[in-house]
Amino acid sequence: MIMEITFYGHSCFEINTGEHRILFDPFISHNEKASAIDVNKLKPDFVFLSHGHEDHVADAVKICKNSGAKAVSTFEVISWLGNQGVENTHPMNHGGSWEFDFGKVKLVNAVHSSSFPDGSYAGNPAGFVFTLKNGDSFYYAGDTALTYDMKLIGEEFELNFAFLPIGDNFTMNLKDAVKSAEMVGVNKFIGMHYDTFPYIEIDQEESKRFAKEKGKELVLMQIGETIKI
Ligand code: NI
Ligand code: MN
Repeated sequence: MIMEITFYGHSCFEINTGEHRILFDPFISHNEKASAIDVNKLKPDFVFLSHGHEDHVADAVKICKNSGAKAVSTFEVISWLGNQGVENTHPMNHGGSWEFDFGKVKLVNAVHSSSFPDGSYAGNPAGFVFTLKNGDSFYYAGDTALTYDMKLIGEEFELNFAFLPIGDNFTMNLKDAVKSAEMVGVNKFIGMHYDTFPYIEIDQEESKRFAKEKGKELVLMQIGETIKI
């Protein structure tokens, strides 16, 4: 099966499996680079949130309420959504898996921090490993440093591709992302968390060239672009 992936800027992607639309880390209305995207038009079936930082949850409440999507995240992030009136939710925590309508998700470690936009405690940051009903599998790393825990993902899953942060400063950089791709066992990865702010600007062509030289395909999408994978 081929799935469609649409990029909404920063770390926000929507996957369309053909039956379900799964949105990750919506940060759109406060992202100047994503000003062409209308948040009100997003109608996902599921919203996955990796952690509580504003650049990952800013539009989550609005999108969940508009769409009725089921929000999935750590216990703390789900409690925060609940306090804002989001009712269709599913809390998880690190190491746990759950079978959803589209397939199975395991919530995995991310080495980062996590607090809500008001500074309150947001639990620990996370990544997700998806295994769709047809067997296709991918890793959404969230915000993370390179960590040897990624080897465990490579040992447990046969991934088709991964979403990895590459912007440096707040997360791993491209060099570490290439190492991460090796550890989780993918040849192709979609870059995220770059070029949104001055701290995380990259040279896109040089980045693609570097990844290729290391035997990896780095996919950098345009905001609003949809690809088939
Ligand atoms: Ni963060
Ligand atoms: Mn971030």
